[in-house]
Amino acid sequence: MATAVSTSSAIQVNPHVAQAVRAGLTSLPKRLPPWLFYDEAGSRLFEEITELPEYYLTRTERSILVHNAGEMIARAADGARLRITELGAGSADKTRLLLRAAVAQQGAVLYEPVDVSATALLVAQARIEREIPGVRVTPYAMDYTNGFYLDRASADERRLVLYIGSSIGNFEPEEARQLLHKVRKQLAPQDCLLLGVDLAKDDAVLLAAYDDAAGTTAAFNKNMLMRLNRELAADFDPAAFAHRAAWNQARSRIEMHLVSRRTQRVRLAAFDLDVEFQPGESIHTENSYKYRPHEAETLLAETGFAPTASWTDERGWFAVHLARAY
Ligand code: AVJ
Repeated sequence: MATAVSTSSAIQVNPHVAQAVRAGLTSLPKRLPPWLFYDEAGSRLFEEITELPEYYLTRTERSILVHNAGEMIARAADGARLRITELGAGSADKTRLLLRAAVAQQGAVLYEPVDVSATALLVAQARIEREIPGVRVTPYAMDYTNGFYLDRASADERRLVLYIGSSIGNFEPEEARQLLHKVRKQLAPQDCLLLGVDLAKDDAVLLAAYDDAAGTTAAFNKNMLMRLNRELAADFDPAAFAHRAAWNQARSRIEMHLVSRRTQRVRLAAFDLDVEFQPGESIHTENSYKYRPHEAETLLAETGFAPTASWTDERGWFAVHLARAY
């Protein structure tokens, strides 16, 4: 069956996607990186996830911000004028609570969302400037995971970097450390970081959040295969894979997998590659780390930040940490 099918030259292959997919599907165990979730369909599915009854993360973090945004901003500013920079801003929905608090306290604020998606940035910019007078938006379209550059805030200003939404949960502990270290290197002493982390909790609660009754998370996970079908002329049958969420207690993380239901061979025509699957073999698509008490403070302290304050919800499910660069 070694037929040389000429690959369609019409297909536009993103080299970053191609390289990640080829590496991940030819390694053992097979894996695909979670950033591949977020094409247009995947970003829409993620927005749906944030509204699911089982997915407590977004609404819990939002409630923490609702109750404490004023105090967070006042503490970060510490008498100076704040400029707010957000990593992985996306739709910037919860951010508006902090921006409103900043406008209330200092009259106007400069907001710099950083995101890979230029489209998401433009949508967020228009919406924020329309809804919150006093906020001026300067978007940065860049992939902050590949190192990034922020110009120095002016001498009379202090920068507050937002890294909320448990986005840090996708990183291995060592990668998380490197990322915070990179953030720190772009900051001046007295600048601040606001970090949102999801906390370890009852595994039934965690598992339900990543395997919801409506099947939205399953669809989100399988959309990755559909993306490869679209972008790499692959022929994945999403029905031939099962969505699986597992709690890895030893590493304190939820893992998401796509498990092959049978022996199968999938063709990725864009790079003339056939990938074989055994029954029960998985593609590991995501880790979502759940922080244990004091872990976030330790990480911050190891990367040049002094943990200054933290806030949680009544159930202690999610935490938002403020830390100051020194
Ligand atoms: C966007 C990384 C915070 O880990 O909870 C949601 C992504 N994956 N459901 C998370 C996700 C499955 C989400 N983060």
